[in-house]
Amino acid sequence: MKRFEEKVFLDFGTASGMGKATAQLFAKDGAKVVIADLQNSQGEKVVQEIIAEGGEAIFIPVDCTQEKDIIKAAEQTIQKFGCIDMMLYQPGAGHSALILDDDIDSWKWVFELNVFGAARAIKSVGKYMKEQGKGAIVVTSSINSFVPVKENAAYCSSKGAIAQLVKVAAMELGPQIRVNAINPGLTDTPSIKVLTQNYNACQVAYKNIVMERFGKPEEFATTARFLLSDDASYITGVSLTCDGGISLYGYPDLSEVL
Ligand SMILES: NC(=O)c1ccc[n+]([C@@H]2O[C@H](COP(=O)([O-])OP(=O)(O)OC[C@H]3O[C@@H](n4cnc5c(N)ncnc54)[C@H](O)[C@@H]3O)[C@@H](O)[C@H]2O)c1
Repeated sequence: MKRFEEKVFLDFGTASGMGKATAQLFAKDGAKVVIADLQNSQGEKVVQEIIAEGGEAIFIPVDCTQEKDIIKAAEQTIQKFGCIDMMLYQPGAGHSALILDDDIDSWKWVFELNVFGAARAIKSVGKYMKEQGKGAIVVTSSINSFVPVKENAAYCSSKGAIAQLVKVAAMELGPQIRVNAINPGLTDTPSIKVLTQNYNACQVAYKNIVMERFGKPEEFATTARFLLSDDASYITGVSLTCDGGISLYGYPDLSEVL
Protein backbone atom coordinates (compact mmCIF):
# COMPACT_ATOMS: atom_id res chain seq x y z
CA MET A 1 0.00 0.00 0.00
CA LYS A 2 1.30 3.44 -0.94
CA ARG A 3 2.04 5.95 1.84
CA PHE A 4 -0.82 8.34 0.94
CA GLU A 5 -3.33 5.81 -0.46
CA GLU A 6 -6.89 7.14 0.10
CA LYS A 7 -5.50 10.46 1.43
CA VAL A 8 -6.71 13.78 0.01
CA PHE A 9 -4.18 16.58 -0.48
CA LEU A 10 -5.21 20.20 -1.13
CA ASP A 11 -2.20 22.10 -2.49
CA PHE A 12 -2.53 25.88 -2.91
CA GLY A 13 0.01 27.33 -5.37
CA THR A 14 0.79 24.16 -7.27
CA ALA A 15 1.17 25.09 -10.91
CA SER A 16 4.88 25.80 -10.57
CA GLY A 17 7.99 25.39 -8.43
CA MET A 18 7.88 23.67 -5.05
CA GLY A 19 4.08 23.30 -5.01
CA LYS A 20 4.16 21.45 -8.32
CA ALA A 21 6.98 19.12 -7.16
CA THR A 22 5.00 18.38 -3.98
CA ALA A 23 1.80 17.64 -5.91
CA GLN A 24 3.70 15.26 -8.19
CA LEU A 25 5.40 13.46 -5.29
CA PHE A 26 2.18 13.09 -3.29
CA ALA A 27 0.34 11.76 -6.36
CA LYS A 28 3.07 9.11 -6.81
CA ASP A 29 2.54 8.23 -3.13
CA GLY A 30 -1.13 7.56 -3.89
CA ALA A 31 -2.79 10.81 -2.74
CA LYS A 32 -5.77 12.36 -4.48
CA VAL A 33 -4.37 15.78 -5.30
CA VAL A 34 -6.20 19.08 -5.68
CA ILE A 35 -4.19 21.65 -7.62
CA ALA A 36 -5.44 25.10 -6.52
CA ASP A 37 -3.71 27.90 -8.41
CA LEU A 38 -4.07 31.20 -10.22
CA GLN A 39 -2.61 29.87 -13.48
CA ASN A 40 -5.36 27.87 -15.21
CA SER A 41 -3.49 26.39 -18.16
CA GLN A 42 -0.38 25.58 -16.13
CA GLY A 43 -2.51 24.04 -13.36
CA GLU A 44 -4.46 21.89 -15.86
CA LYS A 45 -1.13 20.80 -17.36
CA VAL A 46 0.11 19.54 -13.97
CA VAL A 47 -3.18 17.63 -13.57
CA GLN A 48 -2.74 15.99 -16.98
CA GLU A 49 0.88 15.05 -16.15
CA ILE A 50 -0.21 13.42 -12.89
CA ILE A 51 -3.06 11.52 -14.59
CA ALA A 52 -0.69 10.37 -17.38
CA GLU A 53 1.52 8.81 -14.70
CA GLY A 54 -1.43 6.95 -13.17
CA GLY A 55 -2.25 9.41 -10.39
CA GLU A 56 -5.48 11.20 -9.48
CA ALA A 57 -5.76 15.01 -9.56
CA ILE A 58 -8.17 17.85 -10.25
CA PHE A 59 -7.64 21.57 -10.82
CA ILE A 60 -9.51 24.37 -9.05
CA PRO A 61 -8.82 27.96 -10.15
CA VAL A 62 -8.01 30.03 -7.07
CA ASP A 63 -6.70 33.50 -6.33
CA CYS A 64 -5.34 33.13 -2.80
CA THR A 65 -5.77 36.86 -2.14
CA GLN A 66 -9.53 36.26 -2.35
CA GLU A 67 -11.17 34.66 0.68
CA LYS A 68 -14.14 33.41 -1.38
CA ASP A 69 -11.78 31.47 -3.66
CA ILE A 70 -10.08 29.73 -0.73
CA ILE A 71 -13.46 28.80 0.80
CA LYS A 72 -14.59 27.52 -2.61
CA ALA A 73 -11.46 25.36 -2.99
CA ALA A 74 -12.04 23.74 0.40
CA GLU A 75 -15.76 23.17 -0.34
CA GLN A 76 -15.10 21.71 -3.80
CA THR A 77 -12.41 19.39 -2.43
CA ILE A 78 -14.88 18.06 0.16
CA GLN A 79 -17.61 17.69 -2.52
CA LYS A 80 -15.28 15.76 -4.81
CA PHE A 81 -13.29 13.61 -2.37
CA GLY A 82 -15.23 13.75 0.94
CA CYS A 83 -12.38 14.97 3.17
CA ILE A 84 -9.11 16.90 3.31
CA ASP A 85 -6.28 15.03 5.04
CA MET A 86 -3.39 17.32 4.14
CA MET A 87 -3.11 20.94 3.08
CA LEU A 88 -0.12 22.94 1.84
CA TYR A 89 -0.28 26.72 1.42
CA GLN A 90 2.47 27.65 -0.99
CA PRO A 91 2.01 31.07 -2.69
CA GLY A 92 4.29 33.90 -1.65
CA ALA A 93 5.52 37.18 -3.08
CA GLY A 94 7.43 40.31 -2.18
CA HIS A 95 9.01 43.38 -3.67
CA SER A 96 12.35 45.12 -3.39
CA ALA A 97 12.57 48.58 -1.81
CA LEU A 98 14.24 50.42 1.04
CA ILE A 99 11.75 51.17 3.80
CA LEU A 100 12.44 54.91 3.53
CA ASP A 101 11.60 54.85 -0.19
CA ASP A 102 8.78 52.33 -0.07
CA ASP A 103 5.07 52.94 -0.40
CA ILE A 104 4.04 51.05 2.72
CA ASP A 105 0.51 50.63 1.35
CA SER A 106 2.04 48.36 -1.29
CA TRP A 107 2.80 45.90 1.53
CA LYS A 108 -0.93 45.19 1.81
CA TRP A 109 -0.88 42.95 -1.24
CA VAL A 110 2.20 41.06 0.04
CA PHE A 111 0.51 40.42 3.39
CA GLU A 112 -2.78 39.60 1.64
CA LEU A 113 -1.09 36.73 -0.24
CA ASN A 114 1.59 35.57 2.20
CA VAL A 115 -0.16 35.94 5.56
CA PHE A 116 -3.92 36.54 5.16
CA GLY A 117 -4.15 33.85 2.46
CA ALA A 118 -2.38 31.36 4.72
CA ALA A 119 -4.63 32.28 7.66
CA ARG A 120 -7.76 31.98 5.49
CA ALA A 121 -6.61 28.60 4.19
CA ILE A 122 -5.97 27.38 7.75
CA LYS A 123 -9.42 28.66 8.78
CA SER A 124 -11.34 27.26 5.79
CA VAL A 125 -9.61 23.87 5.68
CA GLY A 126 -9.17 23.61 9.46
CA LYS A 127 -12.96 23.78 9.88
CA TYR A 128 -13.39 20.54 7.88
CA MET A 129 -10.37 18.90 9.51
CA LYS A 130 -11.88 19.62 12.95
CA GLU A 131 -15.11 17.91 11.89
CA GLN A 132 -13.08 14.95 10.58
CA GLY A 133 -11.05 14.87 13.81
CA LYS A 134 -7.74 14.71 11.92
CA GLY A 135 -5.52 16.56 9.49
CA ALA A 136 -2.14 18.13 8.86
CA ILE A 137 -1.32 21.58 7.51
CA VAL A 138 1.92 23.11 6.25
CA VAL A 139 2.49 26.75 5.26
CA THR A 140 5.52 27.63 3.14
CA SER A 141 7.48 30.37 4.84
CA SER A 142 11.16 31.20 4.16
CA ILE A 143 14.52 31.49 5.87
CA ASN A 144 13.72 35.20 5.54
CA SER A 145 11.28 34.68 8.42
CA PHE A 146 14.40 34.83 10.61
CA VAL A 147 17.25 35.95 8.29
CA PRO A 148 16.80 39.62 7.35
CA VAL A 149 17.62 40.94 3.88
CA LYS A 150 17.91 44.64 3.14
CA GLU A 151 15.32 46.07 0.73
CA ASN A 152 12.98 43.20 1.52
CA ALA A 153 11.12 44.39 4.60
CA ALA A 154 7.65 43.55 3.31
CA TYR A 155 8.61 39.97 2.37
CA CYS A 156 10.74 39.31 5.49
CA SER A 157 8.15 40.63 7.92
CA SER A 158 5.32 38.74 6.20
CA LYS A 159 7.28 35.48 6.40
CA GLY A 160 8.13 36.25 10.04
CA ALA A 161 4.39 36.50 10.71
CA ILE A 162 3.90 32.95 9.40
CA ALA A 163 6.19 31.55 12.11
CA GLN A 164 3.83 32.88 14.77
CA LEU A 165 0.68 32.07 12.79
CA VAL A 166 1.51 28.34 12.71
CA LYS A 167 2.34 28.30 16.42
CA VAL A 168 -0.99 29.83 17.44
CA ALA A 169 -2.89 27.68 14.91
CA ALA A 170 -1.14 24.56 16.25
CA MET A 171 -2.32 25.41 19.78
CA GLU A 172 -5.89 26.15 18.69
CA LEU A 173 -6.39 23.31 16.19
CA GLY A 174 -4.60 20.58 18.14
CA PRO A 175 -4.54 17.87 19.19
CA GLN A 176 -6.34 16.52 16.11
CA ILE A 177 -4.71 18.84 13.57
CA ARG A 178 -0.99 19.54 13.28
CA VAL A 179 0.10 22.90 11.83
CA ASN A 180 3.69 23.56 10.77
CA ALA A 181 5.74 25.70 8.38
CA ILE A 182 8.74 25.06 6.13
CA ASN A 183 11.51 27.61 5.66
CA PRO A 184 13.07 26.97 2.25
CA GLY A 185 16.41 28.52 1.39
CA LEU A 186 17.30 29.44 -2.19
CA THR A 187 15.49 26.81 -4.24
CA ASP A 188 15.76 26.41 -8.00
CA THR A 189 12.29 27.42 -9.16
CA PRO A 190 11.09 29.89 -11.80
CA SER A 191 10.66 32.54 -9.09
CA ILE A 192 14.45 32.92 -8.63
CA LYS A 193 15.61 32.43 -12.24
CA VAL A 194 17.11 35.93 -12.28
CA LEU A 195 19.60 34.44 -9.82
CA THR A 196 19.93 30.85 -11.07
CA GLN A 197 20.54 32.01 -14.65
CA ASN A 198 23.31 34.44 -13.65
CA TYR A 199 26.66 32.62 -13.46
CA ASN A 200 28.43 35.19 -11.25
CA ALA A 201 25.52 35.44 -8.85
CA CYS A 202 25.44 31.64 -8.54
CA GLN A 203 29.15 31.54 -7.62
CA VAL A 204 28.63 34.14 -4.86
CA ALA A 205 25.55 32.32 -3.58
CA TYR A 206 27.22 28.88 -3.54
CA LYS A 207 30.05 30.20 -1.31
CA ASN A 208 27.37 30.97 1.27
CA ILE A 209 25.55 27.64 1.11
CA VAL A 210 26.99 24.66 3.01
CA MET A 211 25.72 22.31 0.28
CA GLU A 212 27.31 24.59 -2.39
CA ARG A 213 24.19 24.52 -4.57
CA PHE A 214 20.59 25.65 -4.68
CA GLY A 215 17.87 23.44 -3.28
CA LYS A 216 15.77 21.32 -5.63
CA PRO A 217 11.96 21.61 -5.54
CA GLU A 218 11.93 17.83 -4.96
CA GLU A 219 13.90 18.34 -1.72
CA PHE A 220 11.22 20.73 -0.52
CA ALA A 221 8.60 18.14 -1.52
CA THR A 222 10.16 15.38 0.62
CA THR A 223 10.30 17.79 3.56
CA ALA A 224 6.60 18.57 3.09
CA ARG A 225 5.89 14.84 2.82
CA PHE A 226 7.60 14.26 6.17
CA LEU A 227 5.69 17.05 7.96
CA LEU A 228 2.32 16.13 6.41
CA SER A 229 2.68 12.39 7.08
CA ASP A 230 2.30 10.39 10.27
CA ASP A 231 6.10 10.25 10.47
CA ALA A 232 5.76 13.73 12.02
CA SER A 233 2.87 12.72 14.30
CA TYR A 234 4.42 14.44 17.35
CA ILE A 235 5.52 17.63 15.57
CA THR A 236 3.32 20.72 15.58
CA GLY A 237 3.88 24.48 15.67
CA VAL A 238 7.39 24.34 14.22
CA SER A 239 9.03 26.03 11.25
CA LEU A 240 11.38 23.47 9.73
CA THR A 241 14.30 24.92 7.80
CA CYS A 242 15.26 23.21 4.51
CA ASP A 243 18.03 25.44 3.18
CA GLY A 244 21.26 23.49 2.58
CA GLY A 245 22.79 25.47 5.44
CA ILE A 246 22.54 28.96 3.88
CA SER A 247 21.03 30.47 7.01
CA LEU A 248 24.14 29.43 8.98
CA TYR A 249 26.00 32.10 6.98
CA GLY A 250 23.22 34.68 7.09
CA TYR A 251 22.34 35.63 3.52
CA PRO A 252 24.69 36.26 0.57
CA ASP A 253 25.19 39.87 -0.49
CA LEU A 254 24.20 39.68 -4.16
CA SER A 255 23.96 43.42 -4.70
CA GLU A 256 27.23 43.55 -6.71
CA VAL A 257 26.28 40.71 -9.08
CA LEU A 258 22.56 41.08 -9.69
N1 LIG B 1 12.30 29.67 -4.60
C1 LIG B 1 12.95 30.11 -3.52
O1 LIG B 1 14.17 30.28 -3.52
C2 LIG B 1 12.18 30.37 -2.24
C3 LIG B 1 12.92 30.59 -1.08
C4 LIG B 1 12.25 30.78 0.13
C5 LIG B 1 10.87 30.76 0.15
N2 LIG B 1 10.18 30.57 -0.99
C6 LIG B 1 8.71 30.54 -0.89
O2 LIG B 1 8.25 29.33 -1.42
C7 LIG B 1 6.94 29.52 -1.98
C8 LIG B 1 6.87 28.97 -3.40
O3 LIG B 1 7.88 29.57 -4.14
P1 LIG B 1 8.30 29.02 -5.58
O4 LIG B 1 9.68 29.48 -5.79
O5 LIG B 1 7.96 27.58 -5.70
O6 LIG B 1 7.33 29.91 -6.47
P2 LIG B 1 6.73 29.72 -7.94
O7 LIG B 1 6.54 31.11 -8.44
O8 LIG B 1 7.52 28.76 -8.76
O9 LIG B 1 5.31 29.07 -7.64
C9 LIG B 1 4.35 29.75 -6.92
C10 LIG B 1 2.98 29.25 -7.33
O10 LIG B 1 2.01 30.00 -6.61
C11 LIG B 1 1.01 30.43 -7.53
N3 LIG B 1 0.40 31.68 -7.10
C12 LIG B 1 0.98 32.90 -7.06
N4 LIG B 1 0.08 33.81 -6.65
C13 LIG B 1 -1.08 33.14 -6.42
C14 LIG B 1 -2.37 33.53 -5.99
N5 LIG B 1 -2.68 34.82 -5.73
N6 LIG B 1 -3.31 32.59 -5.87
C15 LIG B 1 -3.04 31.28 -6.18
N7 LIG B 1 -1.83 30.86 -6.59
C16 LIG B 1 -0.87 31.78 -6.71
C17 LIG B 1 1.74 30.61 -8.86
O11 LIG B 1 0.83 30.57 -9.95
C18 LIG B 1 2.70 29.43 -8.82
O12 LIG B 1 2.10 28.27 -9.35
C19 LIG B 1 6.63 31.00 -1.83
O13 LIG B 1 5.88 31.19 -0.66
C20 LIG B 1 8.01 31.63 -1.66
O14 LIG B 1 7.95 32.83 -0.92
C21 LIG B 1 10.79 30.39 -2.19
